[in-house]
Amino acid sequence: MVGRDILSYHPRWADADVFADYVRSVRADAHEDTPRPEGRVPATTLWYVDGDTYLGRIAVRHRATPRLLEWGGHIGYDVRPSARRRGHATAMLRAALPVAAGLGIDPVLVTCDPDNVASRKVIEACGGAYEDERCGKLRFWIRTRPELMVSQVGGRSLGIPGGHANVHLFKSPTESAPSDPS
Ligand SMILES: CC(C)(COP(=O)(O)OP(=O)(O)OC[C@H]1O[C@@H](n2cnc3c(N)ncnc32)[C@H](O)[C@@H]1OP(=O)(O)O)[C@@H](O)C(=O)NCCC(=O)NCCS
Repeated sequence: MVGRDILSYHPRWADADVFADYVRSVRADAHEDTPRPEGRVPATTLWYVDGDTYLGRIAVRHRATPRLLEWGGHIGYDVRPSARRRGHATAMLRAALPVAAGLGIDPVLVTCDPDNVASRKVIEACGGAYEDERCGKLRFWIRTRPELMVSQVGGRSLGIPGGHANVHLFKSPTESAPSDPS
């Protein structure tokens, strides 16, 4: 995700016009009528920030295609390397569940590679119920409606609502260039 964008845009990203174009394309991706490659669906991307500092991002696909149901799921996320292992991904996915609910998605499918221990922990901490492994991906379903966001994990009840210790806000991508997201 962000790595792919960095590869595509680097080193032009620091240019304000290039970055504005990039942001426009991210925003446009949320609209149904935006032209996109065959098989791609609209997706809402949100940035997770601490003030002006970019921490990570999460994308909620508006619907699942047969391929997404097997492999990619509804939601993808990443946290900048320098901000990892601080609970941001867990807080970010938790905060994105109402966004998915608002798009009419319940439950959401979230997948990860079998060796992606961190992502699996993130998904399970957010109530992910493991279904199976397909096409080399572990598949988990998460309820998105607040009244249903309580799951049994290891025999104990885990309340999903609640925030990260620090205050971080989602915001839509904005057209000012971020600091280097490494
Ligand atoms: C996966 C990723 C989003 C996790 O982000 P994060 O902000 O570090 O995650 P959290 O801090 O919320 O950590 C969640 C759990 O994973 C653990 N964890 C984090 N990184 C880990 C690592 N490299 N190895 C083992 N465990 C790890 C944390 O200790 C935490 O465990 P706990 O709940 O037992 O305390 C981040 O590593 C990333 O962006 N990776 C590249 C992109 C990616 O894999 N995206 C997910 C695609 S499915």
